[in-house]
Amino acid sequence: MLGIIGGSGLYSLEGVRIVDEVFPETPFGEPSSPLTVAEVEGRRVVFLARHGKDHSLPPHLVPYRANLWAMRELGVERVLGVSAVGGINRDLMPGDLFIPTSFIDLTRSRERTFYEGRFSKKVEGEDRVARLMREGKVVHVDVSDPYCPEMRNTLDRILRDLSLRYVHGGVYVCTEGPRFETTAEIRMIDKLGGDVVGMTGVPEVVLAKELRMCYASLCVVSNPAAGISENRLTSEEVLEMMAEKEEDIRRVVLEFVRRVPQSRSCPCPGSLEGAEV
Ligand code: HPA
Repeated sequence: MLGIIGGSGLYSLEGVRIVDEVFPETPFGEPSSPLTVAEVEGRRVVFLARHGKDHSLPPHLVPYRANLWAMRELGVERVLGVSAVGGINRDLMPGDLFIPTSFIDLTRSRERTFYEGRFSKKVEGEDRVARLMREGKVVHVDVSDPYCPEMRNTLDRILRDLSLRYVHGGVYVCTEGPRFETTAEIRMIDKLGGDVVGMTGVPEVVLAKELRMCYASLCVVSNPAAGISENRLTSEEVLEMMAEKEEDIRRVVLEFVRRVPQSRSCPCPGSLEGAEV
C-alpha cells in the first residue's frame, strides 16, 4: 500500500473515497494525526498530516518514528512525502516542484533511528525489522541513494505529463528549524551543493529506509531561501505559495496513487541486507 505524508498546506486528501480513519498508539507514541485510509479507483492509500491537521507540531517535534511505524502497521510499503522548501538553486523559482535524489542532514536533536541496539524497543512481529529490534541489534542502513528510483521516475512522468515546472535530481538539505536560516547558512549550504532547504525531510526518509519502505519526496519551492532574494522570510509567504499550488499538488498526488507500480522492482526492499552488525 502507498502512504502519503502531507506537509504545510496539505492536511487531507480530497476526491477520494474514505474507507477508515485510525489513530494508533505505537511503541514510539502517537502519530502526528489520525491516519486516513482511502480508496482511489480500487487502490488503497493512507494519508497522514505531518504537522497535525491543525498544524500544531513544529518540524523538530514531529513524531517521525510514530508516523512511519503507524504506516508500517497498516501495511504501507511506499511513502510519498510532500514538503515546502526554500529554493537555493537559481533554476528553482517559487512555485516550482523538485524531486531530490540525495540529502544533507543538518538536523541536531531528533530521534533518528528505530535501531538503538540494546535500548531498542522490544516490538512484536516476525519480520526482519521486528527481529532486529527485539534482538537489540545495531543497524547501519545504507542511504547512498536515499530516494526510491521507481517512485521518482513515476513522479517525473506525472509532472511532465501535467506540464508542471519541475527539476528532478539534486540535493535536499534539512535544517533543524523551527527558525529559518541565516543568509550565511544559505551561502554555506549553496557551497556544499544544496539545491533546496527544508526542515522535515530528515529523518523521515531514513526511518522509511530502516523499515524497508520506499520513500520519495515531492518538494514545493515556496520561497527563495534566505538571502537568495532580498526579502525577509515569513511563514505567511510559505503558506500562501502552498495554497496557490494546492490544486496542482492534489492532482499530482492522485495521479501518483493511480500510477505508482504496486509491486516493487526497486532496490528498496533490500535496504537491510548487510546492515546489521
Ligand atoms: N527554509 C527552511 N525550510 C523551509 C523554507 C526555508 O526557506 N521554506 C519552506 N520550508
